[in-house]
Amino acid sequence: MKLLFVCLGNICRSPMAEGVMRKLIAQHQLPWVVDSAGIEHYHIGERPDRRAIAQCLSHGIDISYKRARLITPEDFKTFDFIYALSADVRDELLHFYVPSSAKIHLLLDVLYPGQNRSVPDPWYGSQRDFALAFELIDQACRALIKVHADGHR
Ligand code: 4NP
Repeated sequence: MKLLFVCLGNICRSPMAEGVMRKLIAQHQLPWVVDSAGIEHYHIGERPDRRAIAQCLSHGIDISYKRARLITPEDFKTFDFIYALSADVRDELLHFYVPSSAKIHLLLDVLYPGQNRSVPDPWYGSQRDFALAFELIDQACRALIKVHADGHR
């Protein structure tokens, strides 16, 4: 099972989702592959935002290894599920990669089906906005484990 998380810059929300999911799959001993990517080029090669690193570290998760990258056409072949952190990113992915549309999902649909909810972009916000984004991501990733764990080991 291969999961890819996607946001705009790949420095705030999707690296936190990658880090949370890596911790959960280790805890559950699932042999899954997890990665993250962005759809904007502004921060390619950079570490996650320091506030995202700090938020994850406060939960025992180190994401400082991560370097931002763009999503590629190969990703749509490699990954089984592509989770957009926001509806705008989901819409972009659907627009550009129509043949892979069945793989593309909105992350928060796992918690709030059909409500088209996004993890708010914390980039212009405070550490508290990163904490709120982390909580949503953490809940969603725990739900994903429940949804996928049986039958996909
Ligand atoms: P992310 O946050 O998509 O969660 O990584 C953002 C990071 C940077 C920008 C926007 C969102 N930016 O415009 O540079």
